[in-house]
Amino acid sequence: MANIIVIGTQWGDEGKGKIVDYLAKRSAMVVRFQGGNNAGHTLVVDGKKVVLHLLPSGILQGDCKCVVGNGVVVDPKVLLEELRMLEVNGYNIDTRRLLVSERAHVIMPYHLAIDALREGARGSAKIGTTGRGIGPTYEDKVARRGVRIGDLLDEKRLRVALGAVLPGRNVTIEQQFGGEPLVLETLVKEYLKVGESLRPFVCDTTSVIHAVNREKGGLLFEGAQGTFLDVDHGTYPYVTSSNTVSGGACAGTGVGPTDIDEVVGIVKAYTTRVGSGPFPSEQLGEKGEWLRANGAEFGATTGRARRCGWFDAALVARAVALNGVTTLALTKLDVLSGLDEIPVGVSYVGGEFPLDLADASVVYETVPGWKEDITKCRTYEELPQACRDYVKFLENAVGAPCGIVSVGPGRKQTIVRPSVDFFSS
Ligand code: GDP
Ligand code: IMO
Ligand code: MG
Repeated sequence: MANIIVIGTQWGDEGKGKIVDYLAKRSAMVVRFQGGNNAGHTLVVDGKKVVLHLLPSGILQGDCKCVVGNGVVVDPKVLLEELRMLEVNGYNIDTRRLLVSERAHVIMPYHLAIDALREGARGSAKIGTTGRGIGPTYEDKVARRGVRIGDLLDEKRLRVALGAVLPGRNVTIEQQFGGEPLVLETLVKEYLKVGESLRPFVCDTTSVIHAVNREKGGLLFEGAQGTFLDVDHGTYPYVTSSNTVSGGACAGTGVGPTDIDEVVGIVKAYTTRVGSGPFPSEQLGEKGEWLRANGAEFGATTGRARRCGWFDAALVARAVALNGVTTLALTKLDVLSGLDEIPVGVSYVGGEFPLDLADASVVYETVPGWKEDITKCRTYEELPQACRDYVKFLENAVGAPCGIVSVGPGRKQTIVRPSVDFFSS
């Protein structure tokens, strides 16, 4: 079976959760490789909506194993809450279904405090983070003073790890922001307990992934966020703190690049962004409102209204190259039904990809729209001609084929074109 990386090609919320859930039914294992519970991945199964923040989006697909990889930052309390939420919904997840890397870094209460205090202090220059402590946790990881999931299973290790990081973090909280310091003993007690609850799921996930790869493959790597939130390639500093591009999947799980067969780029039929930062094709007036209302564009994690705009092919073409996309999965095409014509950003004035996207000025072309409701279409041929022409236009503009088309949030509202042969192998 093919090993596939799935990533977002825009600013997140492209519909990764829906497509990963769909592809998971033909995969052995779904692995998250970066980010944390800043993600909000929505699955709609039998008309019921489930939002996952930390658990991989294969968790609702029968036998598929799920792994929280070493590159993820884990808020263990959120993980346990999410497992409880699934239990309430009738899904009992045991260690046959879920594994958590002992190497993944832990989001601690001081990370949440610093994320909030820092954003507050930034005022109008704020990043607009999700407030889940993601940035401060990755800071500690790279500064070589983080607490790892494996440390929660051993009191001595936890004391050493917390002893190395907490005094400095308390200085930041107290002296820089006037906040309340945290007490080491309280954290040790609380997090040893959390560790005990997680213990059955914790292991060297890298070895398990290697074994599945050797045996049959079928690894599905689930990206969070999107290409332009990548800390290297995104709209820095208005980005998240991890590598969201496909390259991050190798470091974040322990597989080598030569083991990857396909990269599926999830792309929305228009563009959205949550939080601050440049967005060249944003529509601030009634067109943006129309997209937000029609696409129900409100954040799955924070509930914030998403900023909306037209498809930006200059952006997605860059994402195709950055990620080595082999196939695009185009989502929310149904949202555009009803427009007379659809503007598409085809390039930036000057043809360059500027260091600061705030300097990019979009060149638009307009293509005919379609009026039909397409949410019941199940084959590509059933889509109206103008709709297929829109897909073709996007494929040409970004330089990648579109093998999957999504016409609604449900599993059945997914059209897989014959070109997607990796799915049948
Ligand atoms: P993710 O973060 O990339 O997984 O995306 P989110 O779940 O945050 O946001 C995507 C939203 O669009 C969710 O509410 C999905 O249920 C919904 N969705 C996904 N695909 C489609 C589609 O093709 N059409 C429509 N109308 N909604 C979709
Ligand atoms: P999914 O996986 C959209 C954005 C935040 C903010 C910036 C930094 O659902 O697509 P952070 O909390 O990560 O430090 O915030 O990144 N952001 C997302 N936007 N979808 C996401 O995840 C996001 N995760 C983070 O809004 O602008
Ligand atoms: Mg989301």
